[in-house]
Amino acid sequence: MNVRDSELAAGLLEKEGYRLTGNPAEADLVLVNTCTVREKAEQKAHSFIGRVGKFKAKRPGLILGVMGCLAQQWGREFFKRSPYIDFVCGTHALDRIPDMAREVRAGKKHPADTAFRDYPASLAVHSPPHPGEIASYVNIMQGCDNFCAYCIVPYVRGRERSRPSDDIIDEVDRLAEAGVKEVTLLGQNVNSYGTGLEEDINFPLLLKRLGAVQGIERIRFTTSHPKDISEALMDAFLEIDSLCGYLHLPFQAGSNRVLKRMNRGYTAEEYLGKINGLRSRVPSLGLSTDIIVGFPGESGEDFQKTIDLIEKVRFDNAFSFKYSDRPGTAAAGYDGKVDEIEKSRRLTYLQKLQAGYTLEKNKALEGTVQEVLVEGPSKGGFPNVTGRTRGNKVVNFQGDAALFGKTVLVKITHGFAHSLRGEMVQGGDVESCS
Ligand code: 5AD
Ligand code: SF4
Repeated sequence: MNVRDSELAAGLLEKEGYRLTGNPAEADLVLVNTCTVREKAEQKAHSFIGRVGKFKAKRPGLILGVMGCLAQQWGREFFKRSPYIDFVCGTHALDRIPDMAREVRAGKKHPADTAFRDYPASLAVHSPPHPGEIASYVNIMQGCDNFCAYCIVPYVRGRERSRPSDDIIDEVDRLAEAGVKEVTLLGQNVNSYGTGLEEDINFPLLLKRLGAVQGIERIRFTTSHPKDISEALMDAFLEIDSLCGYLHLPFQAGSNRVLKRMNRGYTAEEYLGKINGLRSRVPSLGLSTDIIVGFPGESGEDFQKTIDLIEKVRFDNAFSFKYSDRPGTAAAGYDGKVDEIEKSRRLTYLQKLQAGYTLEKNKALEGTVQEVLVEGPSKGGFPNVTGRTRGNKVVNFQGDAALFGKTVLVKITHGFAHSLRGEMVQGGDVESCS
């Protein structure tokens, strides 16, 4: 969502005559989009803003704006901490960025907008795709009402709000017309899409409508909450051809005691039940997850249950984090805080285990033929191109720019730790094959 919000902000500023530049020395405005989900993200944002502040001291005309969750959390306090910041834009006020830049240029000191609105601007603002864009993000809802005990998101993104389905379909139609082939639907909690809208809609129904959009070959979505994965959503993977067989489903902890203290609303057994339901429909489903280690009160035995769950599910990928206190959340006030060294020990152990499974999963694809949507040149440049399988694995293989935006068949020759290598199957254009 942060990437999408940055794109939307850039689109709004482009309408004002600004152009993106990769060269900070020629920038007239630097807009820092910030995250505060963990303490480390917050520190990183402050230190980056500090660096831009030093740079700005040498270029007094440069405007420095801060947006995103940390901007929402700090509000006007940001000016006290870092007076060289020119404006602060909260998570609901994205559309005000051009106004605020204009106000600063006209001499106004420190404009800020961190008010929550009924309908956040990031759902209302549209921005056309860049020329040649193949995969795009589309916001479908914002905010969260779940209040997991560790999480600051409900406080900085506000209450759950869904975007009317016609508006989403319109945007996706326009993306398809511009040549986009893949959309990733975004929201803090996409499974509860539709709550509060006047129309009769829910997330599986939205997927069905999007599945009918001509030209969109692939649909993905993130992030899902395990308690809201319904049978209808599981069936959607079978019923909608363009819905990719890949799901990011955070489980956070394997111990029911910890899950309860986290206020997650499911047990490890229920989580496994959902995984079984999904895999019985789509055996090849790509699965990734988020995990927190060292939540307050997590004992060695609790942590072992997290490890047991990883061993049972064998995810393709896992994003794992040491618990960090976030101001205002319930868990910040919990007792039983786990020592930093112990958290690091648990994290290292878990990440090593998962790295083995990720590699094993990637190696298991060697010799298989995968449908790959080619997205651009690979990191090392031509003659290699890069794309993703339907299960969301990055594949690099020899090819040229004529393949961009095409779905081709690729035989996997090597599974690595973070990607796959392959060879295009001769005549492997999927459209010409079928
Ligand atoms: N400490 C550590 N990890 C956290 N996450 C969210 N809040 C915290 C926190 N306070 C993790 C969760 C979530 C991911 C985006 O960040 O795993 O799914
Ligand atoms: Fe945070 Fe996700 Fe829980 Fe919402 S569902 S409170 S965004 S972890």
